[in-house]
Amino acid sequence: MSHIILRQAERTPSHPALLADSLRHPGKPGCFAPNFKLETSYPESLSESSPACAPTTQAEYIRWWCAVNERRQDQEVTFDGITVNVRKNVFCPDPNMTHLPILMTHLTPNLVGKKVLDIGTGCGVLAIQAASKGASKVVATDIDHAALANARENVESHGLSNVIDVVESDLFENVSGQYDLIFANLPILDSFWSDRTGPVATMYQRFIENVGRHLTENGVALLGFASFGDMNAAEELILCSPLLKQELSERKFGVDWFVFELGHHQK
Ligand SMILES: C[S@@+](CC[C@H](N)C(=O)[O-])C[C@H]1O[C@@H](n2cnc3c(N)ncnc32)[C@H](O)[C@@H]1O
Repeated sequence: MSHIILRQAERTPSHPALLADSLRHPGKPGCFAPNFKLETSYPESLSESSPACAPTTQAEYIRWWCAVNERRQDQEVTFDGITVNVRKNVFCPDPNMTHLPILMTHLTPNLVGKKVLDIGTGCGVLAIQAASKGASKVVATDIDHAALANARENVESHGLSNVIDVVESDLFENVSGQYDLIFANLPILDSFWSDRTGPVATMYQRFIENVGRHLTENGVALLGFASFGDMNAAEELILCSPLLKQELSERKFGVDWFVFELGHHQK
């Protein structure tokens, strides 16, 4: 059993039936009141024990992740029943190293007929998960050439080239159309990513400014974040967004992992 905290934005959201049942309890609209807390049971796979050496504080986690990341080679990662190749210079979604990819996957159990956009796809794991859950069309984007090549390799090896388009794009720059679901597990730690992506806060600002026009009327964007990032900047940008519907958080490896649900509020 793991503990999930769910907080809803002030306006009552209308759920587009994408989030898992365990997260669909409406509760009282609470505008992030600290006592608005929901604890639920969660799929077993999220409670899997981590390796014995896994960190239990945020500082330990960052040190541990950097050390493991530095050492890793090309590898296969099995992720919720799907195996992908992860090249050594591409972000590794292994649930023993990070938490947002698996959390986002578990939040979206059924995507039959949905149009999905995966911004910052890395090795393509969320896009492949979406296609395997029935999405009719998936667009997977990244700015990094190694990630794009790795995503294409995985899409092809899973025989999904007819469903998933891998597109080079800086956020929404080369994206057109509207989507039922947008995944955005983007860079969080400035010290690791900013040389390649520029300041992380600026990227989140651009994401928030543009995401609305790529969502269908009932569409949902799941934007990840974690407590080792610049929480002040994230709160300023994300919690102030008129698109924010609710926020989910879960602690793992001594880190609080956040998924923000963004979408259009119904009139
Ligand atoms: C933390 S990794 C996550 C990868 C993948 N979503 C996953 O969950 O495994 C973030 C990814 O975002 C990509 N990225 C960074 N800045 C970007 C931008 N401006 N536009 C698109 N992708 C970007 C990085 O190259 C990287 O592959």
